[in-house]
Amino acid sequence: MWRGVWAEWGRFLPRTEKTPELTLYEGGTPLLPAPRLAEWVGGGVRLYLKFEGQNPTGSFKDRGMVVAVAKALEAGARHLVCASTGNTSASAAAYAAAAGIRASVLIPAGKIARGKLAQAARYGARILAVRGNFDQALAVARQLAESRPELALVNSVNPMRLEGQKTAAFEVVEQLGEAPDVLALPVGNAGNITAYWMGFLEYRRAGLSRKLPRLFGFQAEGAAPLVLGHPVERPETVATAIRIGRPASGEKALAAARDSGGAILAVSDAEILEAYAAVARLSGLFAEPASAAPVAGLRRLAAEGRLEAGQRVVAVLTGNGLKDPETALGGDLVERSVESVEAEPRAVAERLLAGSGVA
Ligand code: F0G
Repeated sequence: MWRGVWAEWGRFLPRTEKTPELTLYEGGTPLLPAPRLAEWVGGGVRLYLKFEGQNPTGSFKDRGMVVAVAKALEAGARHLVCASTGNTSASAAAYAAAAGIRASVLIPAGKIARGKLAQAARYGARILAVRGNFDQALAVARQLAESRPELALVNSVNPMRLEGQKTAAFEVVEQLGEAPDVLALPVGNAGNITAYWMGFLEYRRAGLSRKLPRLFGFQAEGAAPLVLGHPVERPETVATAIRIGRPASGEKALAAARDSGGAILAVSDAEILEAYAAVARLSGLFAEPASAAPVAGLRRLAAEGRLEAGQRVVAVLTGNGLKDPETALGGDLVERSVESVEAEPRAVAERLLAGSGVA
């Protein structure tokens, strides 16, 4: 059985004798070959999906959170604080619950997916809806944590978060037997792409892989500060997880993309929603809208002839689709998909054989 990030990857983590044992059995997520989705992407690539939605709170944040929270406990913290577009808050709340300490989360009012809010509330976090966007909430959280040492900041500006998140890169190498040619992922606050690059470099340095992937990070067009080259004051996108205008790790993310021979690019909300639908229908995995950004981006790269046939390409599906029921049910999907029928075999058979339903 998979034993969680500390137990499986502890030799690469800053563990001391005083680090408490903490796990929700995060990490160890599947890398799924997705041939039907690969055809949709185009370019003749061999596409794999790293399904981070299978983590205990349904996103990659758990890998970093387990390390950040254990190290905070080691330092004597009893109260976590973070700003979040949703997933970080769910994860912080879960690990606080497991450890028996407090979590306070600052979210942009009205702009986080309902499932994520439900998680934070059920895990027992204090939830403050800040009248402002994520960037403003993060600025407040950082100032608070600086002036009040009893608050442990668990955003990805905490280097322990990236230490934990880099383990996803190790897993990709183990699962493929070598680093992929290309790895694509969504970019918001820009911690995760930075962590993947750390992980691939560290694994190669340890002699456990020989090559490095090109990293392609995708932002949403309405929230693409790293593509535009300046902060975006009012970021907007359907992919609320990456609705961020001032990425805290922006410089490191740009360096990771550049040094790897990749890039940070933007995709439109329309492309994201198209990819969001395609991922579910053509792979069987259900990922949230932000996680569809790299799939949309790969399709665009393929159309531009920037991917080579036969290349091994990994798209990181960062969060579970169940987290965002509003988007999932958007465009009257339920009304179009659900047919009412008598509880009677003939009536049911008639409907089924008529082949109706959503195409
Ligand atoms: N995908 C999902 C599902 C996310 O929740 C996030 C970030 C990202 C991608 C982008 O990762 O910030 O490391 O570049 N969510 C943060 C949060 C901001 O508060 O949950 P990043």
